[in-house]
Amino acid sequence: MIVAVDGPAASGKGTLARRLARHFGLNYLDTGSLYRAVALRALTAGADPADPAAAVAAARQVEVGDLDDLRLRDDKVAQAASVVAAIPGVRAALLAFQRDFARRGEGAVLDGRDIGTVVCPDADAKVFLTATVEARAMRRFKELQARSAAAIYERVLQDMKLRDARDRERHTAPLVRASDAFELDTTALDADAAFVAVLRFIGERRQRR
Ligand code: CDP
Repeated sequence: MIVAVDGPAASGKGTLARRLARHFGLNYLDTGSLYRAVALRALTAGADPADPAAAVAAARQVEVGDLDDLRLRDDKVAQAASVVAAIPGVRAALLAFQRDFARRGEGAVLDGRDIGTVVCPDADAKVFLTATVEARAMRRFKELQARSAAAIYERVLQDMKLRDARDRERHTAPLVRASDAFELDTTALDADAAFVAVLRFIGERRQRR
């Protein structure tokens, strides 16, 4: 079984996808960490993340070991990730890895922006999470505080709006709900309630198939 979980930043994708993977005994891939790894490699090399040649070269060098780097969570890296993610060559370089991962073993849960539309258009179940930008910025702000990273709510909100716009407006694989995805607004839902709602959707979908 392949489950696609898409949505904007801090909509609850990671928490939900990890939990679904554990529940169904599937592998889990946070595809955002691939774009973050590309961005981190470009930044570390002193390159401009918007430079297609440098970004594509970085994408070709990304390895599984890169995905554990704590610096991937930095906000600077998140911004640069959405810049490299708009470059078609970067997306192309990361596509085969994601598709191979999805097909391995019993299947997988992947979270990202384009899993249901581009990476796994034939996924058995697709979920699209949303939440107001204010609620998402507050979640990210609290995450940053918990990591004792210096954070200012207004700044986090501003950065999130910027990244949302970049992700939605790019030409290649923009952030958009797949027509057959179950859309869930998590603004007023906690992680448990979101999990229960999605489990019900997957159960119904499997019965129909
Ligand atoms: O954790 P958060 O939701 O803030 O971001 P992320 O999922 O780690 O993704 C970081 C950036 O990578 C996003 O802003 C997107 O620009 C890009 N991304 C993408 O283009 N396609 C994906 N499948 C996953 C992430």
